[in-house]
Amino acid sequence: MGQDNYQGALQRPIGSGFNAESTTGDVIKGIDLTGKTAIVTGANTGIGYETALALYEAGANVVVACRDEGKAKQAIEKMQLSEGKGSLEIGILNLANLEAIRTFAADFKNNHQRLDLLINNAGVMMPPASKTDDGFELQFGVNFIGHFALTGHLYPLLKERKNGRVVTVSSGASTFAKEVDFDNLKLEKPYDANREYAVSKLAGLQFAFELDRRLKAIGSSLLSTASHPGVVYTDLQRHIPEDELKAAWKNFSTVSDPWQGALPSLFAATSEAVTGGDYYGPDGEREQSGYPAPSQLLTGAERDEEQARKLWHYAQEKTGVIFPS
Ligand SMILES: NC(=O)c1ccc[n+]([C@@H]2O[C@H](COP(=O)([O-])OP(=O)(O)OC[C@H]3O[C@@H](n4cnc5c(N)ncnc54)[C@H](OP(=O)(O)O)[C@@H]3O)[C@@H](O)[C@H]2O)c1
Repeated sequence: MGQDNYQGALQRPIGSGFNAESTTGDVIKGIDLTGKTAIVTGANTGIGYETALALYEAGANVVVACRDEGKAKQAIEKMQLSEGKGSLEIGILNLANLEAIRTFAADFKNNHQRLDLLINNAGVMMPPASKTDDGFELQFGVNFIGHFALTGHLYPLLKERKNGRVVTVSSGASTFAKEVDFDNLKLEKPYDANREYAVSKLAGLQFAFELDRRLKAIGSSLLSTASHPGVVYTDLQRHIPEDELKAAWKNFSTVSDPWQGALPSLFAATSEAVTGGDYYGPDGEREQSGYPAPSQLLTGAERDEEQARKLWHYAQEKTGVIFPS
């Protein structure tokens, strides 16, 4: 079913300079990442895997940042079959534990001179009610808090690069949240898996755009951008019962394969057309699939500065990670 739908996606009119045969390679065509270092979180599978693979093929040294060493090794072995121009290494990163994030970043800084690209891709969707090791609702904790802390810890290296980039991967589901409910970030209210996922993804966008504003305010050349992949067959749906999932897929006219879901992230990470605060998604119907274009899946809450400032202060206070400066 995935492949059929995906073929359908390729047959619709293309409007963003790519054509029906375009691949991840075309999105980063002509872009040589030799000598650059990238971290992709959640790179062992799905969209993160395809993002890391394309960056490796374009010459980058890519850190495949995963919580499971065995899965990371397997992913790297598979990526190496493509004989990319870059290099690959494992980074052990559990985004559900602030101390583990601090350790990952400290190790990275000890062993690397530079960081050019940080792709905040890892995510969890609709798990049973649960918390991170630090007590946050799991989706909010992994999808937003973990990446906030990670970005802050790595900021000292990121800011040294001219035109370095942070790409935060969000979701069209962010539009189902009007705001972050600060009275329900630690499962204080009856659990609603959909609602909590939407809030975590809105928080990610508010983070990306607030980081952009803060970087501009201090004259930094580091770019903070965001992307969403559309609707993609991956392990993300692992917590949804099969019958519910089957019914849910019927709501979508097209469902992409993971490599296509990686296109907006890759565009945001590498295109010279991108500026700080941009948000890219697929250009097809309801932004479910297609080739990278500025996303219109916005309600206004994403760029609400008052909400974003409140979220930033909350995250700084709870993580103890203060940046940028
Ligand atoms: N698929 C879609 O239709 C869709 C739509 C909109 C947005 N997105 C977003 O796209 C991004 C990639 O998702 P995907 O579809 O590729 O899903 P996926 O195949 O399930 O990949 C998610 C990745 O995140 C990792 N991860 C989960 N919890 C983690 C933790 N505590 N610490 C470190 N890594 C963790 C997973 O590791 P394990 O394999 O070890 O669990 C996996 O590598 C996510 O941010 C997701 O919200 C996806």
